[in-house]
Amino acid sequence: RKKAFIFDLDGVIVDTAKYHFLAWQKIAQELNIEFTLEHNELLKGVSRVRSLDIILELGNVEASQEDKNKWLVQKNEEYLTYLVDMDQSELLPGVLPVLEFLKQNNQPIALGSASKNARPILEKTGILHYFDAVVDGNDVTNAKPDPEVFLIAAQLLQIPAHDAIVFEDSVAGVQAANIAKMTSIGIGDKKTLFEAQHIFANFTQMETSFIEDLIKK
Ligand code: G6P
Ligand code: MG
Repeated sequence: RKKAFIFDLDGVIVDTAKYHFLAWQKIAQELNIEFTLEHNELLKGVSRVRSLDIILELGNVEASQEDKNKWLVQKNEEYLTYLVDMDQSELLPGVLPVLEFLKQNNQPIALGSASKNARPILEKTGILHYFDAVVDGNDVTNAKPDPEVFLIAAQLLQIPAHDAIVFEDSVAGVQAANIAKMTSIGIGDKKTLFEAQHIFANFTQMETSFIEDLIKK
């Protein structure tokens, strides 16, 4: 059987969540807004524009569209400085073997990310060729937990939503997968991702037999 295996990017394939955090923290600092790692969970899986709004809400700051645009550019410029030297070593543990296993088993693979920087990251880490479809922040209008990004991905792979499996590190992304009636697999902390159907600390914890079962089901 063919299933659709849909991967989130940041925090699932690459450890860029820390870079997003550092870049946002710099903006927050400039605005005198307290922004902790706990606050950062709210931003995971969420678009750049929405992330800034959340930070401004945290600090009760109102801003003009002009200022917001300036900070959005600033945030991305800061973020991009962390990506300059990115290579395959920044793939999260166990990711490559899972992609390889899925390919060998002829399973369709897609990316489902809110990021507008997704393609260059897949290129820099040398894994773009694994993906039969890439759906990212340039293709969607509704941010996770809206399931749009995953529904488009499944559609491009020509697999019905209930036969799709989503790997996510964000609460919003797990919710999006659940809303789409896809199998949600949380990658990360159990307490944070409790809404996911299955949770693994990282891909090295996932046995090949587990993936085989997902394919067979
Ligand atoms: C992902 C990350 C978010 C990030 C968003 C937009 O969903 O989890 O932290 O804000 O993508 O990414 P971008 O690269 O377009 O700023
Ligand atoms: Mg993520």
